[in-house]
Amino acid sequence: ASIPADIKRIVLTGFMGAGKSTIGRLLASRIGWTFLDVDTHLEARTNATIPELFERHGEATFRRLESSAIASALARTQTVLALGGGAPEELTNRLLIEQTPATFTIFLDAPFPTLYDRCMLQEIGRPVLANLDAAQARFARRHPLYRRISRLTIDTTSSTPNETIEAILAAIA
Ligand code: S3P
Repeated sequence: ASIPADIKRIVLTGFMGAGKSTIGRLLASRIGWTFLDVDTHLEARTNATIPELFERHGEATFRRLESSAIASALARTQTVLALGGGAPEELTNRLLIEQTPATFTIFLDAPFPTLYDRCMLQEIGRPVLANLDAAQARFARRHPLYRRISRLTIDTTSSTPNETIEAILAAIA
């Protein structure tokens, strides 16, 4: 599959459990690009896990560190980037994503209960899921923002990762 020359990076956005990391890794290998998970990039830069960052410094500091990790990640080319689920909530991040040229952003969508169930099957430390009502409120607040920054929205509710990748390639390539 070949990506048009005017696209230099693909950004995957969406709530926790949307499949950003799974799809991102598979998509990158399919098109011969590098995959970069911004959360993992941030953990490596700070030498701390995300739960540790929340616990030690609070969410506001986490969000500042996250913005700087996003800015650094967006400098890469031929890269598929998976954002953290909260990234589009910050105006700074939306502007960074929208104003970085040659960036194609994709929203991986699914209903909240599906996403929540997927997350419960994973063992990733996610401090913002500690309270179900608060997580649902974050989902509602973020949903229009994910759409707003994306060129393409893909419903992943009942698709396999490979089906999602085929849909992405059909839409871009
Ligand atoms: C968060 C999502 C996580 C991670 C952090 C906060 C959020 O990323 O950045 O736990 O606020 O939705 P994933 O969407 O990759 O799990």
